[in-house]
Amino acid sequence: MIRRLVESCRRHDRSLSDCREAIFAYELDDHSAAAARGSILAELTNLGIPPALATRLAEAWVRTADYLIDAPALPPVDFVIGNPPYIRLEDIPPQTAAIYRSMYSTMVGRADLYVAFFEAALGQLAPNGVCAFICADRWMLNQYGIELRRLVTSGYSVEAVVEMHNAAPFLTEVSAYPAVTILRRARQGPAVVASLDRPAEGPNGRMASALRSTREGKKTSLPTGLKATRLQGWFSGAEPWPCSSPERLSLLQDLESRFEPLESEKSGTRVGIGVATGADKIFITKNGDVAEASRILPLAMASDIADGELRWSGHYLVNPWEEEGLIKLQDYPRLRLYLEQNAEVLGKRHVARKNPVAWYRTIDRVNLPLCKQLKLYIADIKDRLNPVLDRGETYPHHNLYFIQSDVWDLEVLGGLLLSDIGQFFVESYGVRMRGGYLRFQAQYLRKIRTPQPADISRAQAKELTRAFRKRDRNAASEIALDIYGVKGLSEGA
Ligand SMILES: C[S@@+](CC[C@H](N)C(=O)[O-])C[C@H]1O[C@@H](n2cnc3c(N)ncnc32)[C@H](O)[C@@H]1O
Repeated sequence: MIRRLVESCRRHDRSLSDCREAIFAYELDDHSAAAARGSILAELTNLGIPPALATRLAEAWVRTADYLIDAPALPPVDFVIGNPPYIRLEDIPPQTAAIYRSMYSTMVGRADLYVAFFEAALGQLAPNGVCAFICADRWMLNQYGIELRRLVTSGYSVEAVVEMHNAAPFLTEVSAYPAVTILRRARQGPAVVASLDRPAEGPNGRMASALRSTREGKKTSLPTGLKATRLQGWFSGAEPWPCSSPERLSLLQDLESRFEPLESEKSGTRVGIGVATGADKIFITKNGDVAEASRILPLAMASDIADGELRWSGHYLVNPWEEEGLIKLQDYPRLRLYLEQNAEVLGKRHVARKNPVAWYRTIDRVNLPLCKQLKLYIADIKDRLNPVLDRGETYPHHNLYFIQSDVWDLEVLGGLLLSDIGQFFVESYGVRMRGGYLRFQAQYLRKIRTPQPADISRAQAKELTRAFRKRDRNAASEIALDIYGVKGLSEGA
């Protein structure tokens, strides 16, 4: 930046002393700020600037201050470039954390401090201004990034994301999933998503020009270790941005453009989660005699589907709901006795305190017809999607997702979800935590793209059913790839 500024002053015959406000650099730490001023001084002197002016400029440009506090009052700028700190909010003094949270509305949940740096930088950009950060990319996928994603998609354009988890861009080892992210205050245009698996080689600027060409849709040879893909547009709203692998992202976009989400207004398929009670010890029992038979529902728990088949463990849900709403206790003397014996615990729950008349309700209402409907169950996803069929025998507990459909033969759908394509969606939308755990939620299950049932031939449906029953992932994958018109899936994301 300094070199360019000096060169520009020379070209336009301006004095560098006019440029005191051309750069605002922030560093909280005294030593680091002094080191930065030292580098500036050395660079300016090297460029032939007299030491007195060089010292004044270094002093003016580098401020030992808190960027997050100052940013809202700084003038609009054309470029923000930075390597913001990664600090969990828990590791910041509570008072400071509260100030940051009150200033930066994207700092939600367990947001890391870098989220606030993005918001501060974006807020500072003049129209068409650009923010380039090297920073963790976890916010693109996870829950705490939700408001930052919404902010970006509402008024900025994502120009480039270069994932470099394996490129070791820092001198010290940092386990923080680094990426270079380039955002512009402009309407969204094409974007480039790239991944670099080793330190960049070749002349300065080669990487940047390869990325720029890719974004412009020009054919270009990429430097070794760089993979890049051009996207027509970007994601919308607050949805996750699964961009850690360019090839997989372009496949995802292709599938998203050719197939419909599993659940949409007109898909005839519903994804949901089982019942939360607020007091499992009372509402879940193995003793089916605690209430009238009509008030007792067989309940499926996550452990009941662990081996790929529903093996009901004998748990029941004590059900205080009928189709019209909460039951009247006087209509069910046994249930009433049982609930009244537990009234103290039940009454302490948040739902009960909010509405004392309904003190015996479960948190979620029970959707009675669901019990008798065929459905697929999916437990929290550890490694793979593992759908299991329930033939209308049980009601799901809250750690089970269910898929119920008016249009699908659920064993055919189960085969598709069991396949590598199902897994591909899980890996694209979910967040892989250390240890291979994928946090997957109903909202992502709904987004899984599927063909229309009518587009699957009878022979393919038969094969998928067979693969589903036998838990044969390879067979399921072979047919699924054929149905989706996909040649193969590369590993990893
Ligand atoms: C990841 S380091 C980057 C250091 C240096 N800029 C570089 O790129 O090598 C993040 C730096 O941000 C500084 N920092 C942390 N909180 C800050 C804040 N609120 N305002 C300004 N600087 C801050 C830290 O002292 C640390 O030096």
